Amino acid sequence: MASASSNFVSSIIFCLVLALGVEAKPTSRAFFVFGDSLVENGNNNYLLTTARADAPPYGIDYPTRRPTGRFSNGFNIPDLISQQLGAEATLPYLSPELTGARLLVGANFASAGIGILNDTGIQFLNIIRMYRQLEYFEQYQRRVSALIGAQQTKRLVNQALVLVTVGGNDFVNNYYLVPFSARSRQYSLPDYVKFLISEYRKLLQRLYDLGARRVLVTGTGPLGCVPAELAQRSTNGGCSVELQRAADLYNPQLVEMIRGLNNKLGRNVFIASNTQKMHYDFVSNPQAFGFVSSKIACCGQGPYNGIGLCTPLSNLCPNRDLYAFWDPFHPSEKANKIIVQQILSGSTDYMTPMNLSTILELDSRT
Ligand SMILES: *[C@@H]1O[C@H](CO)[C@@H](O)[C@H](O)[C@H]1NC(C)=O
Ligand SMILES: *[C@@H]1O[C@H](CO)[C@@H](O)[C@H](O)[C@H]1NC(C)=O
Repeated sequence: MASASSNFVSSIIFCLVLALGVEAKPTSRAFFVFGDSLVENGNNNYLLTTARADAPPYGIDYPTRRPTGRFSNGFNIPDLISQQLGAEATLPYLSPELTGARLLVGANFASAGIGILNDTGIQFLNIIRMYRQLEYFEQYQRRVSALIGAQQTKRLVNQALVLVTVGGNDFVNNYYLVPFSARSRQYSLPDYVKFLISEYRKLLQRLYDLGARRVLVTGTGPLGCVPAELAQRSTNGGCSVELQRAADLYNPQLVEMIRGLNNKLGRNVFIASNTQKMHYDFVSNPQAFGFVSSKIACCGQGPYNGIGLCTPLSNLCPNRDLYAFWDPFHPSEKANKIIVQQILSGSTDYMTPMNLSTILELDSRT
């Protein structure tokens, strides 16, 4: 029955695609992306902000060899997930090209610099905060309804895969941005983490209320071990103790919050991805993954290439695949591939309650 109805959706979409004069392609499930620079693919190019990746050498290994707004030398995590779904990459929501049949592929609402909290990333001025990304998701659904009707839109959203990556900036670009930041005077670290988790829970509940039914939620990476933090805070080459403490407090509580939310909803809507552990694996043993270094950024300057931004004037490594970090904060395409492989087929140490292959398999049967 369900497969008959999904055939029905496919034929509607197929007709629509023909009607819109776009070349027909096999339809796969839609994909929606929310969050920060780890998953943005170009929204900030359309905004007045310093948080952007639209100049070389960003994109140097992307198929076009040009910057796109992705904070990567090549593909980012959403691109690699789209490839696994057999789908085209989603367009940034603010792209003028996101119209007609292209809307049915999904959309990427992510914006570099944002956090769970509204006051995270204020130094970047005009960025799309989480509440606003969710408002855009509502607007998106109204636009798609005008094309295929409310009922088919609801089905498209319910059957979609969603990725949310947010939280790192609430530490790096808020609590720890400056000594004695407003939030650090207001909260001890453990209380701040509790506050973040409770605010995050509201955002995820809102996403559910807006129709999302399969949502991958990534934790933070090992915040204290990124080249930027090594350059600023490390004394002996080790990770920043304070930021590692933050990641160690936050990530397990995120998993617990997700477990609770799923229990309340009575179904496994949210899937926690332990990106801290995935990332930590190659931070602790880079050679096992083919990296010469997991401490030095490929593009940057100063100690660990961790100071300032990646720009045309920065040092640039000749082979990006040999580095876990592309710039002072963001993984290389090669590291993103390893992370997505774990999202797909990792054990329950990495994916709670199950990995993406299992989800895709389950969803194809219902
Ligand atoms: C963030 O700002 C928006 C717009 O001002 C507001 O509606 C929302 O409640 C704020 N979120 C939080 C958690 O304060
Ligand atoms: C994860 O995915 C693989 C398939 O790629 C599967 O064999 C494995 O059992 C899954 N692991 C868990 C814990 O679900």
